[in-house]
Amino acid sequence: GRTAVVTGFASGIGARTTALLAGLGARVIGVDRPGADIPAELHDALALRIDADLSAPEGPVAVAEQLDGPVHLLVNNAGVAATRPWREVLGVDLLAPRDLTRLLAPKFADAAAVVTVASQAGLRWRENVARSRALLTAEDWEHAFALAAAEPDIQRDCYAVAKEAVIVDALTLAAERTVPGLRANTVSPGTVQTPLLADFRAAMGNEAVEGAAAWAGRHATPDDIAAAIAFLGSDDAAWISGVDLPVDGGYGALIFTMMQ
Ligand code: NAI
Repeated sequence: GRTAVVTGFASGIGARTTALLAGLGARVIGVDRPGADIPAELHDALALRIDADLSAPEGPVAVAEQLDGPVHLLVNNAGVAATRPWREVLGVDLLAPRDLTRLLAPKFADAAAVVTVASQAGLRWRENVARSRALLTAEDWEHAFALAAAEPDIQRDCYAVAKEAVIVDALTLAAERTVPGLRANTVSPGTVQTPLLADFRAAMGNEAVEGAAAWAGRHATPDDIAAAIAFLGSDDAAWISGVDLPVDGGYGALIFTMMQ
């Protein structure tokens, strides 16, 4: 069977992705914070649990050390919102995915895939490719933090900065074949009904969060996003690489038409 690694598996999108992939026959290895509660529904779905704090560079290193290959799918899903200090946001949402993808390179199966959960907040990645590339090529986390600290308001913008950069990272991996044979894609949800949504309300205001759902008719469910992740990670998507797939009920299309 296939082995899938899902970060942030204990809640929200990660939990539903774990359940879906296990249901499709994958051996799922879940990564989350030490002490994170596992939903009862996942007790049978999980082949192995790895505790790691992905807000520090030691986290991805510890995950890679505890993993045997071959890994067929890496889902970089763990994330925090800008209610957290910006270094934590850049660590969990950008630097940990960046590092984990590269640390797992020797353990990937021949036709492996990485799917990283970006966000509609990263929709304007084309405008900031240079910044994303600088962060992605920063030697270590301190160097990346020093670059980010030069932004005019990094605490306000950290989430978008991180999500824009993971989209650029997937494109770069796909184009430069940094990891040979690896397909790299991102999914970009709009608002999703998970515990994190409360943090987005606190960070962005209720109006911004509910406005999107009011237009679309509802928030996404975690299953809406899990289905897109599972597809991009499957052999059905064998010829798809370097793509950001919005999963937002069409809200991104509205933003696009309003910008014209
Ligand atoms: P959630 O809060 O339900 O789940 C996130 C998981 O990541 C949790 O299990 C948490 O323990 C884990 N995590 C957080 N920090 C960690 C750390 N330092 N080390 C290890 N694990 C850590 O959130 P949700 O909504 O399921 O988010 C999943 C992904 O979806 C995130 O990357 C988020 O940015 C993205 N997203 C979510 C949206 C939403 O509206 N909920 C919208 C767009 C993107």
